[in-house]
Amino acid sequence: MPVIKEKKVLVSLLQRMYWIESEMEQLGTWEARIEMMEENLEALEILSHDSDLHGSIVEKWLIKANIEIPKTVPKGLPTHVFNFEGLSAPEMFISIRKYEILAMNAYKDMMNTESSVIEELLPDPIDRKEFINDLQKLIRDEEKHASICNKQALGFAKVMY
Ligand SMILES: [Fe+2]
Repeated sequence: MPVIKEKKVLVSLLQRMYWIESEMEQLGTWEARIEMMEENLEALEILSHDSDLHGSIVEKWLIKANIEIPKTVPKGLPTHVFNFEGLSAPEMFISIRKYEILAMNAYKDMMNTESSVIEELLPDPIDRKEFINDLQKLIRDEEKHASICNKQALGFAKVMY
């Protein structure tokens, strides 16, 4: 059953995800500000690197569908998506996990858009097929990211036993 029935809903979801992926890409900037173990750093690098790719994928579809690429925070998002000030590394990963799950659900919602809405934005059937393929990849990646966060969030507890 389609979740999204209106063009403007899909448009604003794409714009928000573009913004969130761009913010996620900057996760690496926290490396120096939070005490992290080697394994945490590697996890953060993966999340940051994949978000960079995801941002480019979303940007590609914004351009193809003639949607404005947001230059300022889209409506409904906080000015700074991430603030890990004063958090430990496991707490930081718990907080990132929320956004990985949010991203996964957003891409799932996009997959459930009514076909007439997607047809309006992407008239070329080849584009539409590629769009769905990209969404499937994004959903798989976000699932992986959420489990990476889980692992890093639990890492601390393991060390204590
Ligand atoms: Fe992610």
